[in-house]
Amino acid sequence: MRFNQLINLSRMLYIENTTKDLLERVPEPDLIMDNSKSVEAFDQQGSPGGALIPIYKYCARAISKRIPKNGTLLDLGSGSGQFLIYLAHKRPDISITGIDLSDAMVERGNYNIEKNNLSHQITLKVADMTSFSQHVDKNLNLITSVFSLHHLPQLSDLNKCFLEVHLAKSHTQCSFWAFDHIRPKHPSTPDLFPIVFTPQTPLEFREDSKNSLKASWSYEEVSTQLHIFKDCKVSHRQLPILRLYQTFFVV
Ligand SMILES: C[S@@+](CC[C@H](N)C(=O)[O-])C[C@H]1O[C@@H](n2cnc3c(N)ncnc32)[C@H](O)[C@@H]1O
Repeated sequence: MRFNQLINLSRMLYIENTTKDLLERVPEPDLIMDNSKSVEAFDQQGSPGGALIPIYKYCARAISKRIPKNGTLLDLGSGSGQFLIYLAHKRPDISITGIDLSDAMVERGNYNIEKNNLSHQITLKVADMTSFSQHVDKNLNLITSVFSLHHLPQLSDLNKCFLEVHLAKSHTQCSFWAFDHIRPKHPSTPDLFPIVFTPQTPLEFREDSKNSLKASWSYEEVSTQLHIFKDCKVSHRQLPILRLYQTFFVV
């Protein structure tokens, strides 16, 4: 990390840890990612060597521990499938279905899956994460979501999504694991974040990171919605020190 990145990181840590208020939420300008520039930018950063790989590595490790051998997984908001391809390489035994509402993402994803010879293991479908429970496979073991819950326009949509997961859970006994940002507290953090962590990425990707942070749910907002799973065991965590990522697991 360069000197000016370290200075910006220290500044970000200081302002985030000393600000009491919470930034007002601004929903994503691209709720469904079908703009070709943002599809391209996200897809590129999820391919080998891209900026998303350390996050994919973390998520794949966490998911891998939570799915049985030869298990079945459903991913909500799977984008161009780059995370699922990463996961499939680590877990060749599992069957994966990804859903996304963007035709452009699914089209790019199908191209990526074929290129990686993974059509036997991963299927992508155009579908909505706020209404999918009727179509889940009876053998489903785990529902996952990586960087996609913040794309839902309103808190009521997050509620709908969790209700759908709850329904799917009651049909299949599956678990639910998700990873996403936490909305920052300080107004400068969305600008500083891409400068500190992904300074070499194209402008579209840095803009997307900024918009994602502004659109993310706070830890408390997610926590309140997780009450839907009051009959289940829920663990919900935020990254210590730099509280800009959250993860939860519902069994
Ligand atoms: C930031 S991308 C994340 C992609 C992927 N999970 C990854 O980490 O590589 C979020 C995705 O959620 C999708 N999305 C937004 N609203 C959705 C909805 N209601 N149902 C399904 N997908 C949705 C977007 O089209 C976009 O592709």
